[in-house]
Amino acid sequence: MLDRVVRKLAKSSDPNVILGSASFDDAGVYQMENGPALVQTVDFFTPVVDDPYDYGRISAANSLSDIYAMGARPITALNIAAFPDAELPESVLSSILRGASDICRSAGVAIIGGHTISDREIKFGLSVTGIADPEKLMRKDKGEAGDILILTKPLGSGLLANALMNNAAKEEDIAVAVEVMTRLNRVASEAAVKAGCRCATDVSGFGLVGHLKEIASASGLAAQIDSESLPILPGAFEIASGGSFFSGGERKNLLFVKDFLIVGKKISNAIQRIAADPQTSGGLLLAIPAGKVDSFESLMKDASEEIWIIGSLISGDPGSIILE
Ligand code: CO
Ligand code: CO
Repeated sequence: MLDRVVRKLAKSSDPNVILGSASFDDAGVYQMENGPALVQTVDFFTPVVDDPYDYGRISAANSLSDIYAMGARPITALNIAAFPDAELPESVLSSILRGASDICRSAGVAIIGGHTISDREIKFGLSVTGIADPEKLMRKDKGEAGDILILTKPLGSGLLANALMNNAAKEEDIAVAVEVMTRLNRVASEAAVKAGCRCATDVSGFGLVGHLKEIASASGLAAQIDSESLPILPGAFEIASGGSFFSGGERKNLLFVKDFLIVGKKISNAIQRIAADPQTSGGLLLAIPAGKVDSFESLMKDASEEIWIIGSLISGDPGSIILE
C-alpha cells in the first residue's frame, strides 16, 4: 500500500532517469554523462536476530542485495541508524555498525558516512550507491516466455526469525539462517550478468511469490513453480507445518497473492507458507534464457555457490503464478 503512494508521486521527467520510483525495480538507475549508470537504493529494518553484530551484518548484506539484484556493483554506502540511546549501552550500536562495516569491507564497498537518530526502537540499514553498464542491467520487465527461474538462497528466514522471537527456534537452525542471510549476492549477481541474464530481483519482504509476481507482471507473463524444487532452510518447514508463528508480513503476502496464485491440489499449506514467507536478505530470483543456464550454473559451481532451478516463465495471464 505504502509503495503505491510513493509510485503515484514519482514520475520523473528527467531524461537521465533510466529507472525511477515509478518502476518496480530494486534500485533507481540514473545515467551519468559519459560514464556508467548510477544505481541507488536504501533499506533498513528492525532487528531480526538477537546478536547486534549479526543484525548489522544481515542488514548490510540485505541493503547491498538490491544493488546486486540490478546486476550492478556497489561502491559506497551510508549508515542509517535509529537507536534508543537512553535505554541501551553504546556498545550495542557499535556492534551493529561493526557488523555492517565488516560486510561492506568484504564486498569492497566503502562506508563514507551516515546518520543516526534517537528512537524508541532500533532500526538499521544502508543507503547504497553502485555503478552498472546500462546495457547489462537486470530488470524485472526483461523476462521472456521459456526463461528458467533460478533461486540462489533457500527460503524460510522469516519463519525462523519469528519462531526465534517466540523462543521456539533451534539454535543450530538460527546459526544456518544467519550464515545464509549474511552471505552476499555478489557472486550470483556477477555470474548472472556474465551468463547474459537480464531479468532478476532479490527475494525479500514480499516472499518468493510476491517478488515473482512482480517479475511476471512487469514482463507480461505467467510463472510456474515446481514446489518440490523449492530450497528450504533447516527447521523452517517444521515451523511452517506447525501452523503457528504467522507474522504480519506473511499474512499480508498470502492475502496479496491470493488473487493470482493458482495452487495445485497436492500442495500443502506449509509449502504455501514457505512460498509467501517474507525473507530477510534472501537470494536472487533470476529469469535466465534456457540456453544460458549451463553457463550460469558452471560459473556458480566454480565459486562453490549453490543454485536451485524452481520453475519457468510461461505465456499466460500476466502476473499469475502456478504453484504445482
Ligand atoms: Co529488492
Ligand atoms: Co529493498
